Amino acid sequence: MTFQNTLDFAKQLDASDTLAHYRNEFHYPQVNGKDVIYFTGNSLGLQPKRTQTFVDEVMKDWKELAVEGHFYADKPWWDYHERLANGLGKVVGALPKEISVMNTLTVNLHLLMVSFYRPTGKRFKIICEEKAFPSDQYMLQSQVRFHGLDPKEAIVEVKKREGEHAWRTEDIIQKINEVGDELALVLMGGVNYYNGQVLDMEAITKAGKDVGAFVGWDLAHAVGNIKLNLHDWEADFAAWCSYKYMNSGPGNASGIFVHEKHLGKKDIPRFEGWWGTKKETRFLMQPEFDPIQSADAWQLSNPPILSVAPYLASLEMFEEVGMDALIEKQHTIVAFLEFVLHEIDKEVDSTFEIITPKDRGCQLSVFLHGEGRAIFDYLMKNGVITDWREPNVIRLAPAPLYCSFEDMYRFGQILKKGIQDK
Ligand SMILES: Cc1ncc(COP(=O)(O)O)c(C=O)c1O
Repeated sequence: MTFQNTLDFAKQLDASDTLAHYRNEFHYPQVNGKDVIYFTGNSLGLQPKRTQTFVDEVMKDWKELAVEGHFYADKPWWDYHERLANGLGKVVGALPKEISVMNTLTVNLHLLMVSFYRPTGKRFKIICEEKAFPSDQYMLQSQVRFHGLDPKEAIVEVKKREGEHAWRTEDIIQKINEVGDELALVLMGGVNYYNGQVLDMEAITKAGKDVGAFVGWDLAHAVGNIKLNLHDWEADFAAWCSYKYMNSGPGNASGIFVHEKHLGKKDIPRFEGWWGTKKETRFLMQPEFDPIQSADAWQLSNPPILSVAPYLASLEMFEEVGMDALIEKQHTIVAFLEFVLHEIDKEVDSTFEIITPKDRGCQLSVFLHGEGRAIFDYLMKNGVITDWREPNVIRLAPAPLYCSFEDMYRFGQILKKGIQDK
């Protein structure tokens, strides 16, 4: 498609966008009396309007039924979380039984490491990407120390090449082969939080498995953003938060994936609690743990229903739309944003350098050469919600469910004015 950087053209794209009506499904913060242009769905998604209904329902059931709500609410609480497994399975390419919803992301990564980081003698190393999200780095380091090992020896980081902004798949695979039979685990971010790069999860998973390691994925920036096929790729495990592209609300519940082949096992190392034992016998209060035959075996506590309800509300939208339609719009809107940036670049003295490679989802990370923090402040004051990473990178993530093509055009005009007026 040949784009034009005009308001009319952007409006034309919106008019032919089959997802355009989903804009009305969300609440937008207001700046200067107008809906903001929201680029930070990669950090915290907007609030879907229908979420209130789902939360109100739980509040009402609690008010009217109290403890009886566990079994007699319209959506009984004792298995409320199971309502997410089907929909999430479609989002991440997994069987419903491979999914559970519990805790928060870093907590879940720790719990999954109990099962999938089992260093033995020679095989004790972990491969991750350099400058992984800090919480993942702390998680990995503390796990390694917990096993009495030294993070400097055990953690192997794959670096980008000098002068390059993205990882090369062949470098990651080469590192996996190099570490070979010393490799216990590959744990990486499927979509990098900083440069927005989508890693070749299929190839990396295969390479890790070929040398006999477990392979797990942090999907914080991937879930609800890109096409995933965890089951077919044979990843061992994955975890994600739900508050970014999944729009479930601040700090909300995390999802996990555990491959079918690890399910139903009593002898797998795992930290256990009563919500992981079989439902049929749970309330017999017996001392022996009998794992549910699904990823729910990793659940420890009864789920926080007031957290899970907003997740269910937003997941309903993903079910309605489907990942294919979402990704189709994403491709167009991100390409249009890229085009707008190139066009504005020609009209201003500063230079924009997009560091996100073509293997990308929703996010473009852009160096604004010649600009400083003042341009970020200008954008925020003028209703463009984005984020800023020193020295001068902005990350722009136009989530396809609620961003419009007109937003992209208007953003370009605000950016241009901010640079020209400084
Ligand atoms: C890639 C990645 N991993 C881990 C986390 C930590 O998430 P949480 O605070 O839910 O544990 C984040 C949070 O933004 C993230 O982006």
